[in-house]
Parts: sequence; C-alpha cells; structure tokens
Amino acid sequence: MVAPDEFRRVLGHFATGVTIVTTCDEDARPTGLTASAFTSVSLSPPLVLVCVDHKSQSYQPLLESGRFAVNILRIEQEEVSRRFASTRLDKFDGVPFRLSALGLPLLADALAWVECTTANTYVEGDHTIFIGRVEEVQFGEGEPLLYYRGRYERLSGGPA
Ligand SMILES: Cc1cc2nc3c(=O)[nH]c(=O)nc-3n(C[C@H](O)[C@H](O)[C@H](O)COP(=O)(O)O)c2cc1C
Repeated sequence: MVAPDEFRRVLGHFATGVTIVTTCDEDARPTGLTASAFTSVSLSPPLVLVCVDHKSQSYQPLLESGRFAVNILRIEQEEVSRRFASTRLDKFDGVPFRLSALGLPLLADALAWVECTTANTYVEGDHTIFIGRVEEVQFGEGEPLLYYRGRYERLSGGPA
C-alpha cells in the first residue's frame, strides 16, 4: 500500500489549474469548494468530470441539485481559492458572484466558466466522480492560477 502522504506527494507533481465548483443547496444558498480534480471526458457529447470528497459541505447539494458550475480561476484569485478550500460556512460573503440562467453561482473575474448538468455519478473510495454535461461556457481574461507540489504558482515565461 502507498502511504497517504506519499500518495499526496506524488500527485502534487502533476501541475494543475485550480477551479471552484459551485452549486446551490435546497434553500437556494450558494455553496462551493476548491477543486483541481477537474478534467474533460468527452468531446461529443461535451462531458467533464469533477471528483468531490464525501466530507465536503457541497457534496450533498451537488448530488441534490443535479447541476454544477466549474469556475476556472485566474492568477489574482489565490485568496478566493484558499477561502473555498477551507471549511468555513460563509465562503460567499464578500465574494462577488452572480446566478446564471441555469441558477448556478458564477464567481466574478474567473478565467472561464463551465456550467453543467450532472449526467452521472460514480462513488469511488472517499470521493464521488460527478460527470457533467456541458450546457454553457463563458470566457474571461487573464492568466491561470496553477497548483504544483502543494503551492500556488503562475505561468512563467513563454511556451516550453
Ligand atoms: C488546490 C486544491 C485543490 C483541491 N482539489 C480538490 C478536489 O478536486 N476535490 C475535493 O473534494 N477537494 C479538493 N480540495 C480540498 C477542498 O477544497 C477542501 O477539502 C475544502 O475544505 C472543501 O470545503 P468544504 O469542506 O467546506 O466543502 C482541494 C484543495 C486545494 C487547495
């Protein structure tokens, strides 16, 4: 068995972008968490996935709402990423967002937004994989916020 620390450390070597996955709970309150386990699944139909810890306060709302938004963060949004990676209950207080036509919370000033309806869910270990059918996309401006070996990073220089 690979030890949890070692598992976390080796996966930290896979550089990713950073997203905040949002939805609304049954009382129409916005909820969300920072997530890097986001990837494309299929082009036709357009499908993505996010993996969400069963301990997340957003887990049940994600299951119940049947929809979620993936807010892809830009470099200036490290603080908002830290906030949504915490377990505080007031994550949205003072964070500008709007509700989309699909009723999903879209954070202001993100790099891009992907709105999904949940096509399927798969329980795997202590996480659930949410497969999202992409219904709407929007683009912002700027540079991506990156995460690598447990630290926030930025793109440096030109292409590899
Ligand atoms: C860069 C980064 C990426 C993360 N990716 C995920 C992820 O993909 N899935 C997940 O469930 N938690 C992920 N987390 C952890 C959650 O953001 C964290 O557990 C948070 O407390 C969840 O909020 P909640 O417990 O209030 O729902 C990540 C945290 C960070 C800092």
